[in-house]
Amino acid sequence: MAEFKKADSMLEWFDQRLGVINFSKVMMTEYWIPKNINFLWAMGALLMMMFGVLLISGIFLLMYYKPDVALAFDSVNYTIMHDVAYGWLFRHIHAVGASVIFLVIYIHMFTGIYYGSYKKGREMIWLSGMLLFVLFSAEGFSGYMLPWGQMSYWAAYVITEIFGGIPVIGGDLVVWIRGNFYVSDSTLTRFFMLHVLLIPVVMLGAIAFHFYSLRFPHVNNEAGEFFDYDVEAEKYLAGDKKGSKVIPFWPVFLAKDFFVMGVFLIFFFYLVFYYYGFAMDPVNFDKADGLKTPTHIYPEWYFLWSYEVLRGFFFEMFGISGKDLGLMAFAFANGIFLVMPWLDRSPTVAPANQRPYFKIWFWLLMIDLIVLTIFGKLPPTGANAWVGFASSLSFIVLFLALPVITTLEAKKLGAK
Ligand code: HEM
Repeated sequence: MAEFKKADSMLEWFDQRLGVINFSKVMMTEYWIPKNINFLWAMGALLMMMFGVLLISGIFLLMYYKPDVALAFDSVNYTIMHDVAYGWLFRHIHAVGASVIFLVIYIHMFTGIYYGSYKKGREMIWLSGMLLFVLFSAEGFSGYMLPWGQMSYWAAYVITEIFGGIPVIGGDLVVWIRGNFYVSDSTLTRFFMLHVLLIPVVMLGAIAFHFYSLRFPHVNNEAGEFFDYDVEAEKYLAGDKKGSKVIPFWPVFLAKDFFVMGVFLIFFFYLVFYYYGFAMDPVNFDKADGLKTPTHIYPEWYFLWSYEVLRGFFFEMFGISGKDLGLMAFAFANGIFLVMPWLDRSPTVAPANQRPYFKIWFWLLMIDLIVLTIFGKLPPTGANAWVGFASSLSFIVLFLALPVITTLEAKKLGAK
């Protein structure tokens, strides 16, 4: 057996045994993090942790779940919830985790927008992030179908129906996605495969890509400042810790991440034990019935804003039917965040509060998204329908105006 000298730290212990990768070298002396970043920069680490939580709780659920329309509902609501020891706990962790991860994703995305972290060489970080957003949305949607409750069935029906709006191939595409003319057993089985295999595997690759694209030019910071990491690291190593703009990733920065994770976990388990209901729609405790449409059909909270954009255009305009306008607006809403790095025409990398026009744009967008989310859950009748229309239109106008606003802002800031 190989002999090892006494290790001074855990990292050294691993270095001695693994040999190939020198962890302490990589982590102690080569990986540096800007000093001036706040708790919002811990959202990425939180997402990584929540991905792990979902994976592990999902594996436990997988041991008892049955992907068959005759068995799925009972396997979740009776077997897992009542018969299996702690099955309820794993279900609550999984359901609450799936809902809360979207809250963290949105905070992570809007932090990126607020600080302009998608600009100047960081486009690939943004694009890989948007890929992750699409994958998480598909994962959330496919998972919601698995308990085979009323809302699982009807949400799947409405969302797959949307593809029917694509010209020429729409009708065939809907049948292809469902594997049948209506949402049925074949739909459940394929969504099950997507949820537990294909999407998670692609996600792992996308997360690796997201991290890889972060290595250069590294994360942004609160001041949007560019500096030489090597020079700053030298200063730190030479003992000028105060003057240096960086801190070592391990263990200095990670301690901060762990603190945020700890606080988040208190909030998370509070929800899991006392407020799990918010992640589970009461209608979904009725078994799916293709002959009984629920009074109101709505998706989970994190899709409500784009669902409201879909419903917002409910009357004919310019000779185009309300349904088609809604579909076009929905496609716009889902695609527009992807091109954010090119819509923002100002080269200034700074927090929104230091950008006179962008600041207003950002907060208007936040208000609009909250209004869309609230009205997305209400029945689209009377005044609600008009609020939906106004907020959907505002969403589109805000994004169309962004290049103009940011060009004007760049001129104003440049002229100073
Ligand atoms: C599971 C999904 C995701 C994981 C695990 C993840 C992970 C991370 C991590 C660890 C960081 C570095 C620390 C930080 O700034 O928080 C980061 C940065 C970043 N992520 Fe994500 N991310 C995910 C999804 C997204 C999404 C949906 C977007 C938005 C499109 C996004 C955009 C960004 C941007 C712009 C940065 C750079 C921030 C900066 O430069 O300051 N990420 N991500």
